[in-house]
Amino acid sequence: MERLRRLKMKQELRDMLQETVLRRQSLIMPLFVVHGTSVHDPIASMPGVFHVSVDRLIREVKGLKETGVKGILLFGIPRSKDEHGSEAIAEDGIIQQAIRAVKEAVPEMVVITDVCLCEYTSNGHCGVVENGVILNDPTRERLAEMAASHANAGADMVAPSDMMDGTVASIRAALDQAGYENLPIMSYSAKFASALYGPFREAAQSSPAFGDRKSHQLNGANTRDAMRALERCAAEGADILMVKPALPYLDIIARARQMFNLPLAAYQVSGEYAMIKAAAEKGYIDEERVILESLLAIRRAGADLIITYFAKQIVNRL
Ligand code: PBG
Ligand code: ZN
Repeated sequence: MERLRRLKMKQELRDMLQETVLRRQSLIMPLFVVHGTSVHDPIASMPGVFHVSVDRLIREVKGLKETGVKGILLFGIPRSKDEHGSEAIAEDGIIQQAIRAVKEAVPEMVVITDVCLCEYTSNGHCGVVENGVILNDPTRERLAEMAASHANAGADMVAPSDMMDGTVASIRAALDQAGYENLPIMSYSAKFASALYGPFREAAQSSPAFGDRKSHQLNGANTRDAMRALERCAAEGADILMVKPALPYLDIIARARQMFNLPLAAYQVSGEYAMIKAAAEKGYIDEERVILESLLAIRRAGADLIITYFAKQIVNRL
């Protein structure tokens, strides 16, 4: 008789036979940077996540490095938002300041930056808007400038999250021209129009003032379109592909793993984080076990890297 239980009788043997393992170096911690000093303000929609000023960011990054987190993903909240998202490419913009400070204080940390306009525009849209429509090509040109400005400040990698067509190619060209041919691009390639970005948009005050993001983000019902988006990013020169959100789209992660030989990242987004936090707070679930189970599932599906707000909390358990 086939007895699968033979190998399950002893913890040590179970450990030896575990197929998928979570590693510290697979985790990337997202961080929200704001202007000011000594700012460490809780984000209501994401318990345990904070808006930090650059000085506090440094403290945070030092702590992360000590625990073995190798990479951070930075989001900047500008002092003021305008129609063109001007601060996104300002020399002394919040993100540019943050990059410089982190690279000076903790040079080993891999600093990745989100490249999109929605945190910076007063209308909350990801690009240049005219008559209520996001213009594709002016947007990608602007994002290429933004990426180059992050590179100038010292970023190790840029992560365009806009989902326009051609952004990766434009960014690659701009980086190469500026002498950053070795700076990699991690593209948010298969980014679905998800309700799970809600807590993030509260944190970044980046909800679109009108309309939604469905003219560029993917329909959650569409697998083939997601594959096309991944293919397009790969063809344009992305070095790392990404699927986002993570847990509801494990099938997409698994297919991407099969179809491409590029490294693959998955983003466990703000809503996924908030759901676990809220249920744990109520005592409905065991927080730590659910976090580990969710991360393991994402890894098992095929993600090499996991961007997660749990990185700081969970890294010591790996
Ligand atoms: C910016 C961006 C968003 C997220 C990452 N980059 C928000 C959006 O597309 O509205 C979401 C991250 C999260 O929910 O944790 N385009
Ligand atoms: Zn955006």
